[in-house]
Amino acid sequence: MERTFIMVKPDGVQRGLIGEVIRRLEQKGLKIVGIKTMWIQEELAMEHYSEHAEKPFFRDLVDYITSGPVVAMVAEGKEAVKVVRNIVGATNPVEAAPGTIRGDFGMDIGRNVVHASDSLKSAEREISLFFDADELIEYTRADEEWLYES
Ligand code: RTP
Ligand code: MG
Repeated sequence: MERTFIMVKPDGVQRGLIGEVIRRLEQKGLKIVGIKTMWIQEELAMEHYSEHAEKPFFRDLVDYITSGPVVAMVAEGKEAVKVVRNIVGATNPVEAAPGTIRGDFGMDIGRNVVHASDSLKSAEREISLFFDADELIEYTRADEEWLYES
């Protein structure tokens, strides 16, 4: 099983899409093992998106992600990183396929509703950046034996 990091960005929170994002993760079969509302400060935003520090959009990205509360989550499941990236869709909502979160709810690359880790390595880094170990819960979902062959 893998764990991945997902965040409803400030536009998603303000547009009332927290439940919609969680619903899509839940109905797919992902297990939410950690969740919290937070208002990210500049330092954490810059650390989270440090891979983009040299990009021309970095300042706007940090301003965007610190512009209001977010909902940070950790989801667990088989190949969770890939599964969640597929649910989220392409970075630019203009290109994102219908049926994905960004494809269904976004119009602008700079307001693309959600973040999701792009690799297992990023997931581990981002989870430890946003969550303490005791904020992540281990449990069995009642439908797990029907979601997985073994
Ligand atoms: P995220 O990290 O937020 O899940 O998005 P992503 O992997 O799909 O895309 P990434 O390349 O990591 O970009 C991070 C965020 O930066 C903003 N962005 N703006 N103006 C631009 O050209 C541009 N490119 C990226 C987006 O908000 C993107 O989600
Ligand atoms: Mg990314």
